Amino acid sequence: MSNNLLKGKKGIISGALNSKSIAWKVAEIAHEQGAEIVLTNAPIAMRMGEINELATKINAPVIAADATNEQDLDNLFEKSMEHFGGKVDFVLHSIGMSPNVRKGRHYTDLNYEWYKQTLDVSATSLHKMLATAYKKDAINEWGSVVALTYIAAQRIFPDYNDMADAKSLLESIARSFGYHYGTAKKVRINTISQSPTVTTAGSGVKGFDGFINYSEAMSPLGNADAEACAQYCVALFSDLTRYVTMQNLFHDGGFSITGVTQNVVERFATDAE
Ligand SMILES: NC(=O)c1ccc[n+]([C@@H]2O[C@H](COP(=O)([O-])OP(=O)(O)OC[C@H]3O[C@@H](n4cnc5c(N)ncnc54)[C@H](O)[C@@H]3O)[C@@H](O)[C@H]2O)c1
Repeated sequence: MSNNLLKGKKGIISGALNSKSIAWKVAEIAHEQGAEIVLTNAPIAMRMGEINELATKINAPVIAADATNEQDLDNLFEKSMEHFGGKVDFVLHSIGMSPNVRKGRHYTDLNYEWYKQTLDVSATSLHKMLATAYKKDAINEWGSVVALTYIAAQRIFPDYNDMADAKSLLESIARSFGYHYGTAKKVRINTISQSPTVTTAGSGVKGFDGFINYSEAMSPLGNADAEACAQYCVALFSDLTRYVTMQNLFHDGGFSITGVTQNVVERFATDAE
């Protein structure tokens, strides 16, 4: 159902790899809510081709950009503004990748070249996107940038590995840039800390199955799925959330504020009645 929450708004959505991607759902719902969209992803991800299916469905051009490459990002904002005939109103950063996680390196034995890539792809890329947009004055006043994160930025989840460090940096960049962009141009920047979700990136984490089931049992509302996450992103892109900025917002069914649930207590009880 559409309430036209994003009618007249124009946005760039990164990270739609396949129909499981959180960004894919954001693009679909933003389109449904009246937005015009430019899709982007790394050239290598685009070779898989599924993004074209989404592009056709929501009538959006696709502009390839490696989010670690400043020239690519410059081109992305330049071409997007040309396409829209003006500035953009929202940007989704939905990008994450760790070679150490992919190749099973333990946190106590990281490959530091890969570590740099983890931080560059998963966190510094947000700074690069924001700096590009800022210098080009590419985002309208009251525009909204959202990046996706995970609670391992604040609490230890051992198998999340060096992605935890990347997410801490990502959230810090959102706060710091949020201050500067807010003061200068009234652009707001937030991170959404999402429940574990079955996607290509999500499923790459070792022991994901146990992880997602535990999270489900520890969340009063259960895990939030990709579609619900997309709805929250769209709410943050809309004018109904204009004074929300520099926040890390938990979208996790209550997981982050729950000490324990009855469900989990019962599983550990030894005093059988
Ligand atoms: N799935 C989860 O459990 C979960 C939970 C919390 C947060 N997140 C975050 O949500 C975001 C989206 O992930 P997802 O779960 O939808 O998985 P996904 O694998 O569908 O999306 C990750 C995207 O990052 C893109 N990417 C990787 N390297 C890139 C680069 N150099 N330049 C541009 N794009 C690049 C990939 O092509 C892919 O589209 C990530 O930031 C992820 O960490 C996911």
